[in-house]
Amino acid sequence: MAQTVLVVGGAGAQGIPIVQALSSDPKYAVRVLTRNPDSETAKELLALPNVSIATGDASNEADLRKAFQGVDLAFVNTNSFALGIRAEIYWGMRIFDIAVQSGVKHYIWSALEDALTLSGYDEACRVGHYEGKSRVTEWMKSKPQTPMKWSVLTTGPYIEMLHELLRPTKLDDGTWVFQFPLKDGAVPFVHLDDVGRAVKWILDTPEESAGLNVKISIEHASGEQVASAFTAVTGQPARYESVPATQWLKDSPPGPPSYKMGSQYEGNTPDDPTLLTVEQNFSNWWNLYQRSAGNTGLLKTDYAFLDRVIPGRVKSVREWMEKVQYTGERRFVIKSYSGN
Ligand SMILES: NC(=O)c1ccc[n+]([C@@H]2O[C@H](COP(=O)([O-])OP(=O)(O)OC[C@H]3O[C@@H](n4cnc5c(N)ncnc54)[C@H](OP(=O)(O)O)[C@@H]3O)[C@@H](O)[C@H]2O)c1
Repeated sequence: MAQTVLVVGGAGAQGIPIVQALSSDPKYAVRVLTRNPDSETAKELLALPNVSIATGDASNEADLRKAFQGVDLAFVNTNSFALGIRAEIYWGMRIFDIAVQSGVKHYIWSALEDALTLSGYDEACRVGHYEGKSRVTEWMKSKPQTPMKWSVLTTGPYIEMLHELLRPTKLDDGTWVFQFPLKDGAVPFVHLDDVGRAVKWILDTPEESAGLNVKISIEHASGEQVASAFTAVTGQPARYESVPATQWLKDSPPGPPSYKMGSQYEGNTPDDPTLLTVEQNFSNWWNLYQRSAGNTGLLKTDYAFLDRVIPGRVKSVREWMEKVQYTGERRFVIKSYSGN
């Protein structure tokens, strides 16, 4: 009989390829937790084999208990931007408890790196969504592998953001310019399809994956590498320009710079002192990547391990651009931008 996998966040950008990867294997029946079962995304997921929808909110105890009924395996991606740091830590721990109580056998927490610790507690690298998720990882490490096995999947910036938040601008002379506050650092981009394959490997291989923190990325890509991959794939001129974070936040912000991330969550107050503004959060986010060049800085990936467990993974920005026929034009990926 198929094992039921609950995917919390399954109708989001990260969750969709996970649902797709698991639904391709009849040994899994996939249940997607979403607040909106009538969305286009939910309908598309329902059209896949062995997929069902559980309606509910990942920060509602009763909804979670209902969604977890009869579940064997789980993948959990909470929404940092909606919750804020404190509520993400609470719900990250609470969902784990509920999974244990529901009889889940193997649980995957979708995490981000512990940027603050890696930087030697430098406030300049304090990134809210990394803090919430990594504190939950650290707490999980104190838990035994019984009665529930657990694994962590640590991701990072989706390369698909080159379609939207990180897309280049085209100058009148036809040159494409990638403007990031990256200096000579590097971004270990993550390809969403490979996230799906990594989750499938973790669930397929519990004897190896239980207790592991699987850190996934394509390659550590500098700004120059992104621009030269673009030219190689499209034949069009491109260059990288490092810009101050203040300029990036003005030209292409992920939200209003003074907006406190998580302030709309009902458990937080609008002026909640535990929340970071978009400006604080994303300036520090770039600081982290400025210090991560060449897989020798703050953030490191074991690429040999990834090559073994995800054979056929996308290994370079150039390979990804070829795969998706990248043009630099806008395409919607992140749900909060597209409204789907
Ligand atoms: N963008 C990146 O490059 C990146 C990289 C690594 C990790 N992440 C992490 O991924 C998480 C976001 O997931 P995603 O990338 O899949 O984003 P997304 O496409 O915007 O999807 C948002 C997801 O969050 C859920 N959600 C729950 N409560 C929500 C609320 N109040 N408002 C909006 N959405 C809510 C949505 O569920 P419904 O189906 O109910 O709408 C949906 O599954 C964040 O925690 C972020 O830190 C992002």
